[in-house]
Amino acid sequence: MKILITGGSSGKEKGLAENFYEKGFEALVTSRDEKKLAQLANDLKCIRTVVYDSSVIDDEAKVVDFIRDEWGNELDILFKNAGHVAITPFGNLDRETLENMYRVHLTAPSMLTAGCLDALKKNKGQILNITSSHEIKPYPQLMA
Ligand SMILES: NC(=O)c1ccc[n+]([C@@H]2O[C@H](COP(=O)([O-])OP(=O)(O)OC[C@H]3O[C@@H](n4cnc5c(N)ncnc54)[C@H](OP(=O)(O)O)[C@@H]3O)[C@@H](O)[C@H]2O)c1
Repeated sequence: MKILITGGSSGKEKGLAENFYEKGFEALVTSRDEKKLAQLANDLKCIRTVVYDSSVIDDEAKVVDFIRDEWGNELDILFKNAGHVAITPFGNLDRETLENMYRVHLTAPSMLTAGCLDALKKNKGQILNITSSHEIKPYPQLMA
């Protein structure tokens, strides 16, 4: 079984990667930080890693290429976790922050999903999306 976890090199998502790894999954973990990925690969020898920044246009191609070239285009779970919260009073909103939020949380995960679709279909895979309670309950100054 093969799982891809975006933004999974630290915190509770690292724990998640460890959990799947201990259950016998092959895990591919992405991060923007090469050092964190090197540490992870050192801690868990069989975990595979790719440096991926969803704010960079077309960066998801590196992840899709890995799955095609290294995993025979097979994927069982696509765990889309990478993201961040921008805290900005709406009156101070700037275009770059807004466009970055859309890119990181909408455009890039959608393109990544499209790129992984054949691999997921091949293994009758599943997609897990991490979202936010802010979608249904707004908080002051938070864009989710
Ligand atoms: N914690 C909350 O209260 C909260 C609330 C609402 C929504 N969420 C969402 O839940 C998910 C997990 O959040 P968390 O609190 O567990 O945060 P977290 O520990 O910071 O995990 C998010 C991961 O996303 C990665 N990331 C951030 N920006 C990225 C980018 N541009 N490209 C690629 N990776 C990026 C980061 O990895 P690297 O730094 O290693 O690249 C980070 O490890 C996120 O999608 C977040 O938006 C969290």
